[in-house]
Amino acid sequence: MTTESSTQQVMELEKQYLLQNYGRYPLVIRRGKGCYIYDTNGKRYLDLIAGIGVNALGHAHPRIVKVIREQAALLIHCSNLYYHEYQGPLAKKLAEISGLDRSFFCNSGAEAMEGALKMMRSHGGKVSPEKVEVISLENSFHGRTLGALSITGQAKYRKDFEPLLPGVRFVPRNDVAALEAAFSERTAGIVLEWVQGEGGVYPLTVEYARRARELADQHNALLVFDEIQCGVGRPGKYFAYQLAEPAVMPDIVVAAKPLACGLPLGVLIANEKAAAAIGPGMHGTTFGGGPLACRVALEFFDILDELMEHIHQVGGCFRQELVELGRHFSFIKEVRGFGLMLGMELDIPGKQIVVDGMAEGLLFNCTHDTVLRFLPPYIITEPEVDKAVKVLRGLFKKI
Ligand SMILES: Cc1ncc(COP(=O)(O)O)c(C=O)c1O
Repeated sequence: MTTESSTQQVMELEKQYLLQNYGRYPLVIRRGKGCYIYDTNGKRYLDLIAGIGVNALGHAHPRIVKVIREQAALLIHCSNLYYHEYQGPLAKKLAEISGLDRSFFCNSGAEAMEGALKMMRSHGGKVSPEKVEVISLENSFHGRTLGALSITGQAKYRKDFEPLLPGVRFVPRNDVAALEAAFSERTAGIVLEWVQGEGGVYPLTVEYARRARELADQHNALLVFDEIQCGVGRPGKYFAYQLAEPAVMPDIVVAAKPLACGLPLGVLIANEKAAAAIGPGMHGTTFGGGPLACRVALEFFDILDELMEHIHQVGGCFRQELVELGRHFSFIKEVRGFGLMLGMELDIPGKQIVVDGMAEGLLFNCTHDTVLRFLPPYIITEPEVDKAVKVLRGLFKKI
């Protein structure tokens, strides 16, 4: 059996037995090392999407592999009935870097967002039975569970599942007047992505985020930042809200993707005010915050502390090189983003460019039809960025 036919077999078996909810690219990945992955034919790809922002330390990072090996042999799971040695230290680290107080660990971004929704509801309910509304942004993305979907501001994801949670008000990004009009005494909370990821890499203005903070305070509502994609080192800061000086502090931040370098781990981090809304028995999870994922996350943060300046530096170079490309190709409209979360908006569809990039050994993706999105591992080097941009230039020349 040739490797080509085994690739075909993998795809056919999935077609027969899996729910047909994903539109996968025809690539079967076998292994990864650093910023590269290898398919079943041994072909190498420079990975600028990193499992949609998950593989922050690339693939097979020796320190992560070592910790996984050690911990897997000791204890993988023990449930939240008991203590283990790693949740406390990880929560302490998260409190230090976020400026918030208390963590709840779970398994995914959507689950972290569900926790935040329950916190907002419970907080509002303690004030008044009418205080149930949540403000969210048009074009946002917060996950696929019914709650997270209810505050996702994109009709294409919502339409098949309505009616969803009532009391959600969508407002346009960076429109202060619309934000002011949406707040009332019924507002329990507001949820913002500092940089809309799936929506096409659109940042908030600092002015808008500050106004959201003020309005939330005025109306005794909770301000929630969804940093599942844009946070945890990717912006060159621990969290994107720290890009503002001084930081615009949320009441709750939710994070997930890179936390445990590919093992499922999500977190909700809250200040004391928000945390007070959840008491014993009000929330929980079987798998969330297990010893394996938490110990890996502690190791990840040790490494991240030393990478922060690098992310800022290499992200700046990447951005500059993309902007430079924009000077040569008229179909490039704009380059957006911070650190190693970058988007390039085109005035032509991007899907074929992604497919052609794969043929040339470069992985990235396209969101919202026309935005090329780059979420490379934090360990990417300037020569690797140069190499990626060279491939992109070649692809653009053929258009
Ligand atoms: C901003 C944002 N929020 C929430 C989610 C949902 O996270 P998960 O897929 O881990 O449930 C995502 C996933 O892409 C995201 O980008």
